[in-house]
This record gives sequence, C-alpha cells and structure tokens, in this order.
Amino acid sequence: MKKIAVFASGNGSNFQVIAEQFPVAFVFSDHRDAFVLERAQNLGVTSYAFELKEFENKAAYEEAIVDLLNQHEIDLVCLAGYMKIVSQTLLSAYEGKIINIHPAYLPEFPGAHGIEDAWRAGVSESGVTIHYVDSGVDTGKIIHQVRVPRLETDTIETFETRIHEAEYKLYPQVLKELGVTERKKTC
Ligand code: GRF
Repeated sequence: MKKIAVFASGNGSNFQVIAEQFPVAFVFSDHRDAFVLERAQNLGVTSYAFELKEFENKAAYEEAIVDLLNQHEIDLVCLAGYMKIVSQTLLSAYEGKIINIHPAYLPEFPGAHGIEDAWRAGVSESGVTIHYVDSGVDTGKIIHQVRVPRLETDTIETFETRIHEAEYKLYPQVLKELGVTERKKTC
C-alpha cells in the first residue's frame, strides 16, 4: 500500500478532502499556527510542524523533513498549499515522489497567485493542475489538469470557490490513478 504524507502551510482544505478519503500517514506544516493542524487533530491524523527560521539553513530544515518521511516510509508526498519552494535536499531524497496542486491551468499562471493572476488577466477559463515537483516553480511534469470556466456572473470569490471545488475532485482522482488506496468506509 502506498503511504502518503500531505504538506500544507495554511488553511488545509485540500488536506481535509484527501484525509477524508485516503489514509494519510501524517501532515506537515511549515507554520506552527496553521489551521491545517487543527483539521488534522479533528481528523485524528498525525501532524508535525516546524519552521524554516528554526534551522540554520534550508538544507537542515529539509533534512528534518526527509527524516520524517523516512521514519514513516512515505511513498508519495502530496503538496497542497505548501508555500515553500522544494529545494535539492528534499527533491533528491524523494525524486519523482512529490506532487503538487496548482490552482491554474499550467503553464498558465504559475506562482503563488494563480487564481488572482488569471482573474486579473481577464481569462474566459482557468483551471487546476496536478504535477510532479521539480526544482522550478510549478514547472514539473503535468499529471492531470482540468479547465474551470470563468462565468460572466463570477466575482473573484465565486471564481475562486469553483477553482477549489475542482481541486477537491482532482486531487482524489489523481491519487487513485497513482495507486493510492482509499480509506475503508465506516458505516
Ligand atoms: C490551493 O488553492 C492550492 O491549489 C494552492 O494553495 C491552495 C491551498 O488551499 N497551492 P488549502 O490550504 O488546501 O485550503
């Protein structure tokens, strides 16, 4: 069985959707006060949190992450709103085993503001992408992506909501495609 870990920096709604459908070995956050940690507690999922500033440098920070991944024998790292660039220490230890969700149709609108950037550009459609992580910003091999139209009646809030709804469908779909086994349903 493939063991997954989810990394999130803030809200964690994608983590929640994943954890409700798949066993998650642990969630990691790079912010000790992130809401995702509360979600993990409510769902009974193990969580870890530490911050880059607590380490001498990024390599030492990522070594601590790699230790956690090794301890838990993780097969797949699922980034879901993890707002740090993954650097060489983590990339080389888990090469080809880190995926990310991006709230735009890559290569359109990479970076930290995919939804706002698409909105401001006035596109008639944007989307959601899940891709492998490489050393670039949202440049890794695309696994799956879906289009999300921008409706005439949309505000940025409704547009954003529909992007997130598409994310909540796409992440579980991709995890199934990658061979992650779903959680056993309880009555
Ligand atoms: C999502 O839109 C994801 O695509 C992006 O960051 C957001 C995280 O939201 N990378 P949440 O923390 O899962 O609610």
